[in-house]
Amino acid sequence: MPWRFALTRTVVPAIALLTLLAGCGKDAPSAATSAASGSDVERAEIGMKIAPVPLNTQGLDTALVGLGSYLVNASGGCNDCHTVPNFAAGGDPYKSEKLTINAANYLQGGRQFGPVTSRNLTPKGAERLPAGLSFAQFKWMMQTGEDPKDSRRVLQVMPWPIFGHMREGDLRAIYEFLRAIPSLPDNPSPQPAG
Ligand code: HEC
Repeated sequence: MPWRFALTRTVVPAIALLTLLAGCGKDAPSAATSAASGSDVERAEIGMKIAPVPLNTQGLDTALVGLGSYLVNASGGCNDCHTVPNFAAGGDPYKSEKLTINAANYLQGGRQFGPVTSRNLTPKGAERLPAGLSFAQFKWMMQTGEDPKDSRRVLQVMPWPIFGHMREGDLRAIYEFLRAIPSLPDNPSPQPAG
């Protein structure tokens, strides 16, 4: 067999195989590591880094607050509907600007979807209850969609049919995060979605 063929038929596939194995070797442990360390600790660390507002964690479990921040800011998209406008001036990533969440109105509500308006989720009163809700009320709302402010109606637009599948610990973490964010009055200038 001419050496060129030998090269193509043995060495090249061998290199390809080795590269593949090396690739697996590189990915497999890190995948395994992230499954093992997995965990909520890693999420909580990210959550703490990406929280767009100063957090008051006094009396709260910081690991839960961090996990809650991750669930709200890296996956739940609560900001999309509950912060108006979503981004600070000059911080709109859809205009290729550097992402800056609108901290001044963070989760204060005020996004209008036809007849419904997203609510103010920030903590109320000395007990710092998010939207004025106890955890039991918050959990019930997330799982059933029943409006905590009017039990005769079901919350519209709010993706509770999705969020309601979360494990209780995750709902708790979101709740604890919402307790840690700055309290704000209802948004004085609601804006329509779109
Ligand atoms: C697609 C838009 C949208 C997203 C995303 C969204 N919400 Fe909502 N949410 C709403 C709207 C709109 C309402 C009010 C609905 C109504 O009045 O029928 C609401 C209501 C609520 C209420 C009820 C508050 C009260 O005063 O009783 C809570 C709590 C809440 N949302 C929490 C969250 C959290 C936490 C997240 C993220 C995990 C989230 N929402 C994501 C649109 C949204």
